[in-house]
Amino acid sequence: MKEFSPSDMSQGLAIMTSGGDSAGMNPAVKCSVEYARKQGFKPFLIYDGLRGLIDDNIVEASRELCSGILHRGGTVLRSSRSKRFFEYQYRQQAFENLQRRGIGNLIVIGGDGSFSALNQFYADFKVPFAGIPATIDNDIPGTDYCLGVDTALNMIRQSVDSIRDTATSFSRAFVIEVMGRHCGYLAMVSALSSGAEICLIPEIPYDLDSIGARLIEEKKNGRSYVLAIVAEGTRMSEHLTRWLTDSLNMDARLTVLGHVQRGGSPTVHDRIMAYKFAVAAVESLKSGNPNAIMTFRDGSFGSVPIETVTGSKYKMDADLLKLCKPLAT
Ligand code: F6P
Repeated sequence: MKEFSPSDMSQGLAIMTSGGDSAGMNPAVKCSVEYARKQGFKPFLIYDGLRGLIDDNIVEASRELCSGILHRGGTVLRSSRSKRFFEYQYRQQAFENLQRRGIGNLIVIGGDGSFSALNQFYADFKVPFAGIPATIDNDIPGTDYCLGVDTALNMIRQSVDSIRDTATSFSRAFVIEVMGRHCGYLAMVSALSSGAEICLIPEIPYDLDSIGARLIEEKKNGRSYVLAIVAEGTRMSEHLTRWLTDSLNMDARLTVLGHVQRGGSPTVHDRIMAYKFAVAAVESLKSGNPNAIMTFRDGSFGSVPIETVTGSKYKMDADLLKLCKPLAT
């Protein structure tokens, strides 16, 4: 079996998006293609994520395919979560698809599950890859930021602002459930930036008695409405809605924001972050890094070995957690 040398600049470099889509994936695809081409790689696009890698949905990245995509939400390359990729025979098939085209480098834009899958692929066939963190959950260890988070936060902000309009008009309590899987980042930042009265996230123990006492006091002093932001990972949304009715004697409603949080045109921040992550990913492959994940930490771009991502748990910003704590008690 032919082993690829990462330093051979004439090699093909394929870009794919994998796992849950997020805004920022399209600018990352476009910038990866353009920067890779400038660096002497021959860029390819893999459609449908890991499924497309197995099923040979791979095309050369023409300028046409990458134009007019930067401002679009989701991923024009489409995405998937493939169980087949766990089986060696399908990974072998995927490798043959790459080998036929002389593709010896991969950029995968996605989450830690996709990075682990590509790392297994690297262990099998020694095809180097660079990972660009992209998930609205912001839960990838080693990086402070994942593509799509800013756009998701702005989608949530817009919805919370609208809900506040009706909450104040009708003197109601609203529970707004946001995504994030097991991570409370979206809920925490949304609660702080929208001035919510309550925020429940998996990372902070909550105390409903204490929240109740605080809000009863505030009601006595004129509070007429309540906004609560709840991370889906707490599974507390319905309970909290009933509790607001029973304990605070308020008319309460639950809004589950759902997949609207994953869509929308990427914000300026996500476009610029995509650009910088893409450049870092191409540079990482160019310098011969076999399996690195791009990171943004304490204001600087860098990369960590895949083991850092697979072997540790994400850490939430301690200052933000401190600010959020009073909203859970
Ligand atoms: O990981 C991104 C995410 O949007 C989570 O926040 C959410 O829990 C999950 O994906 C939803 O998954 P699906 O799109 O499969 O319903």
